[in-house]
Amino acid sequence: MDPSKKYTAIHYHSYLELDKILGAQVPRSGKFEENPAHDETLFIIMHQVYELWFKQIIHEIESVCDMFRDEKLNEENINLAVLRLKRVSEILELVIKQIFVMETLTPLDFLDFRHYLFPASGFQSLQFRVIESMMGLREEDRLTYNRHSYKIVFTEEQKEKLTKIENGGSLFELIEDWLERIPFLKFEDFNFLESYKSAVEKMLSDEEAAISATEYLSPKMKNMRLTMLGSTNTYFKQVLSEEAHAEMQKKGEVRLSYKATLAALLINLYREKPILTIPYNLLMEIMNIDELLTTWRYRHAQMVMRMIGNKVGTGGSSGHDYLAKTAEKHKIFKDLHNISSLLIPRSELPDLPIELEKQLSFYYSHNSR
Ligand code: HEM
Repeated sequence: MDPSKKYTAIHYHSYLELDKILGAQVPRSGKFEENPAHDETLFIIMHQVYELWFKQIIHEIESVCDMFRDEKLNEENINLAVLRLKRVSEILELVIKQIFVMETLTPLDFLDFRHYLFPASGFQSLQFRVIESMMGLREEDRLTYNRHSYKIVFTEEQKEKLTKIENGGSLFELIEDWLERIPFLKFEDFNFLESYKSAVEKMLSDEEAAISATEYLSPKMKNMRLTMLGSTNTYFKQVLSEEAHAEMQKKGEVRLSYKATLAALLINLYREKPILTIPYNLLMEIMNIDELLTTWRYRHAQMVMRMIGNKVGTGGSSGHDYLAKTAEKHKIFKDLHNISSLLIPRSELPDLPIELEKQLSFYYSHNSR
C-alpha cells in the first residue's frame, strides 16, 4: 500500500452505511393510514435481507464463472470455486429457513397491507433472475408468464443486462466446456467408453443369469424382472450412443453434451482418484445449489398457498400453481443429477491401466512405492 495514503479511522455505523440501510424500511400502509400495518416492517425486511443475500450469491457465482471463462483455467482455482459455491449453498440453506420467519405473518394480518403492494411482486426481482440466468436457465426453458417473456416487467436497461448474461456463457455452459476439456476419456490404449460399456454388459448379463437361476422367484416374477432388466439395458445403450444422445438433445430431453456427460460419468465413477476428487466436489456443489434453488421454489410456493390460498399474485400470475410448476421446470443441471442412473457398483468398475492410475494420483503416492 502507498504509505502516503495513510488510512483513516472509520466508525462501525458509517462503515456499514447504516443510515441508508436502516432508513430504508418505509411501510406503504403508513402513507394511506394513520397507523401503518404492524407486520409490514417484517415483510419489507424479509425481502431486503433476501436481496442482500442475492447480491452476495451473484458476487460468488460471477467470480466462479470468471475463473472458468479464462481459457487457461488455473487448476488451483477449482478448489477456490468449490469453496465459493459451498458458500452459496450455505446462504441458500439459510434463506430457505427464513421462510419460517415470513410465515409468522398470518394471512389475515397480510391482508392489512397486501392491497397497497399491487402490482409489485417478487416476479420483479432482477437479482433473482440474474442468479437463475447466471446458473444457466435459458429463456426457452422458462415457464411463460401469461404468455409473455419473463423480462416484460423490467426496464430496457435491465432487459439488456439479462440478455447479456444469457448470451455471455452461463455456469452451465462454462462447466460443460470444462468437462469437455477433461482428459482421461482416452488414454493410450485405454478407451473409457468402451471399457465402461463392457462392464455394464457384464453386470447386466450377470444379473440376468442370477434372475434365471434363482429358485425364489416364480416363472412369472422371473419374466417380469427380466423384462425390467431389458429396459435398463436399452436405457444404458441409448444414453451411451452418441447418435441417440444427439436425438435426445434435439427433443430437449437432455441438454449436456455427449462428451461432457461422459466426463461427468468418469468423474463420478473414479471420484476416489486424487486428481478427480476436486472436480467431483465441484459437480456436487453445483448440484447442491440447483437442488437448493428448487427447494426454495417449493418452499416459497407452499408459503404462498398458506398466505393467499389460490388467489392470483400481485404480479398477475396464477400464484401458487405457477410457482409450484417453476420448481421442477426451472431446474438447470438435471443431466448432472441423472448421472446417478448410469453408475455401476465399484466392484464392476474396469481397472485402469497403471500409467493412467499414476496420472490420476498424487505424484508422491506412486513414487514412494
Ligand atoms: C407473504 C409473503 C409472500 C407472498 C404471498 C408471495 C407471493 C408470490 C407470488 C404469488 C408470486 C408469483 C408472481 C406473482 O403473481 O406475483 C411470487 C413470486 C416470487 N416471489 Fe414471492 N411471496 C412472498 C414472499 C417472498 C419473499 C420473502 C421473497 C424473497 C425475495 C419472494 C420472492 C419471490 C420471487 C423471486 C418470485 C418470482 C418467482 C418466479 O417467477 O420464479 N417472495 N411471490
